[in-house]
Amino acid sequence: MTGVLELRDIAESIAREAGERAAARRAEGVSIAASKSSLEDVVTEADREVENLIRARLADLRPDDAFLGEESGAEGGSSGLTWVVDPIDGTVNYLYGIPDYCVSIAVVEGEPDPRSWTALAGVVYAPAKRELFHAAAGHGAFRGDERLAVNTGVSPALALIGTGFGYAAEKRVRQAAVVQSLVAEVRDIRRIGAAALDLCAVASGRIDAYYESGLNPWDQAAGVLIAQEAGARVEGRDGAPADRDLTIAAAPEIFGFLHDRVASAR
Ligand code: IPD
Repeated sequence: MTGVLELRDIAESIAREAGERAAARRAEGVSIAASKSSLEDVVTEADREVENLIRARLADLRPDDAFLGEESGAEGGSSGLTWVVDPIDGTVNYLYGIPDYCVSIAVVEGEPDPRSWTALAGVVYAPAKRELFHAAAGHGAFRGDERLAVNTGVSPALALIGTGFGYAAEKRVRQAAVVQSLVAEVRDIRRIGAAALDLCAVASGRIDAYYESGLNPWDQAAGVLIAQEAGARVEGRDGAPADRDLTIAAAPEIFGFLHDRVASAR
């Protein structure tokens, strides 16, 4: 069986190629001079093209593995491993030319469900920032060659907290209420606009914690492993695994505080 480090290397080489393709398409085609509907079409096209590229590389290198992608959905395999892929996380940033977008690729064992899978390796590549985050289970988390660790000695009042809003209006209203009360208790709030990069930001100490409700498996598969391997406590509600309901990734000292605020507010 292939080891987790080899799986991470495969994810890394594919993420690099896919990220460069996304950046090239951004440079060529996504111009904010176009009308809104064609902009969305262009973004969708870039998403699909990048996912197809990732899928084709995996079909060559790992023909027995299953696939779960944001754009093309699920395809089964016989190995028990699934590649979970977001071709462009941070689509709205991509659309506007904000550099915080990324390719996210993870490989997991078991059912392709964040509540029960075991993540083996994950890579998040932000081509416009030339930053590549990676982790293999049990081997730590890295940005390039630099080993990552979450912040220590964090108190709620001095914590910088990342979050996201999802797209559904009703969810945004509930989330705004949580932010309204939380912002008075912490140092400040950040909304980076790409869940995978939020999770990597926790891993690298750029923020102290992150929470979001409604994440899809592909938004969080790689980033959760990277955050965990950097020492973050990552869970959902009441000790459940992070899932669509709630994802909290935090420096361990402030996990409880953040969980109390966000889990009780929904
Ligand atoms: C979205 C981003 C955003 C988060 C949303 C995600 P997409 O993914 O990660 O930050 O708040 O919940 O759906 O649409 O850019 O791939």
